Amino acid sequence: MFKARTITGAGKADMYREIAQQLEGLLAGEFDAIANAANTSALLFQSLPDLNWAGFYFLRAGGELVLGPFQGKPACVRIAAGRGVCGAAVVRRQSVRFADVNEFPGHIACDADSRAELVVPLMRQGIIVGVLDLDSPHVGRFDAEDQAGIEHVAAIYVAACEF
Ligand code: SME
Repeated sequence: MFKARTITGAGKADMYREIAQQLEGLLAGEFDAIANAANTSALLFQSLPDLNWAGFYFLRAGGELVLGPFQGKPACVRIAAGRGVCGAAVVRRQSVRFADVNEFPGHIACDADSRAELVVPLMRQGIIVGVLDLDSPHVGRFDAEDQAGIEHVAAIYVAACEF
């Protein structure tokens, strides 16, 4: 049985180091991309304060993103190529972070409460296989340290999985 450890580190960098350690343990010996996405989103949603959504979209034929495992309210299933914050992260091939999604006209509102958003591409040997998406109801919730921490989480996830 998995037990979430209380995160005791003083700062965000410590917190993300602990999350990374827990994730390595959680994914060890398992290569299934769906099962690992489910556990990764659960770990993030349990460990990080002030989130209302944490989950995965996987890249499918024609550049469409299709909903994967997540925690939070039900979300839109398909995101057309290049659409929304998630699509922008795929097109730019880099993380996209908004303090307030209302600044981004193309934002797709799955939950009206979402304000801040961080989307990190899942990159396997230079090929994007999907994105990891975090939402928060608090403007400015994600900073550069969150981005670095979640990029590390995405790298651990990708390295553990077969696609
Ligand atoms: N806001 C995202 C859509 C996914 S939900 O936030 C879960 C976007 O604009 O791509």
